[in-house]
Amino acid sequence: MQYALSEELCEMSRAVETKAILEQSEPSLSPTMFRTIFGGLPAGVSVVTALDEASRPIGLTVSAVMSISLSPPLLAVCLDNSKYTLEAIKRRGHFGVNFLSGRQAEVSNNFAFGDHDKFAAVDWAASEHAGVPILKDVRAHAECAVWNVVEAGDHTLIIGHILSGAVSEERPLTYYSRQYVDLVFPQSFDRAGAAEGGSR
Ligand SMILES: Cc1cc2nc3c(=O)[nH]c(=O)nc-3n(C[C@H](O)[C@H](O)[C@H](O)COP(=O)(O)O)c2cc1C
Repeated sequence: MQYALSEELCEMSRAVETKAILEQSEPSLSPTMFRTIFGGLPAGVSVVTALDEASRPIGLTVSAVMSISLSPPLLAVCLDNSKYTLEAIKRRGHFGVNFLSGRQAEVSNNFAFGDHDKFAAVDWAASEHAGVPILKDVRAHAECAVWNVVEAGDHTLIIGHILSGAVSEERPLTYYSRQYVDLVFPQSFDRAGAAEGGSR
């Protein structure tokens, strides 16, 4: 048994060494090209919210939000390691995702820029189960309990178990090429990828 354990430890240490060698020798994409690739990818805009140690509402604007699993219902948000909100979410174990509406570009800027009380200018209410801040007039919202935390480079992926959520009639706010885009008349596509009404 002791022998098996030490073999396992050797295997783990070999894996760590291999990762370190790969990190040193593999080529790495430049930050400029990274930003160019992802700046050209349209993304929805959300505000991730939480409560700090003193139960004050905090939050930041985020485009890195994705659905993960239907059963159980899971989503993920990706936050910069330096963010205060990330620490609060890890400590308190709950967070909210507010999917902004096309009319909320100002709300996005409010939560992305400046050193001010971000909640002074917005209407919000505590969520049903976790009491995290849910902003008014959003396209949709979800309240989550932390399911898993995955460190990845200078960001951290927070996977959340969705406790509750709701959706409105509002259109979503999107961000593309460093600008907000309000999807006024989105064109629908069928399963084959052809535009509706187009030739088949
Ligand atoms: C459209 C948009 C999308 C953003 N997406 C993210 C993101 O996915 N993750 C992240 O950590 N920061 C993202 N940011 C940056 C944060 O919103 C920004 O750093 C904010 O100032 C953080 O607030 P804080 O410094 O008070 O914590 C985004 C900003 C904008 C304008």
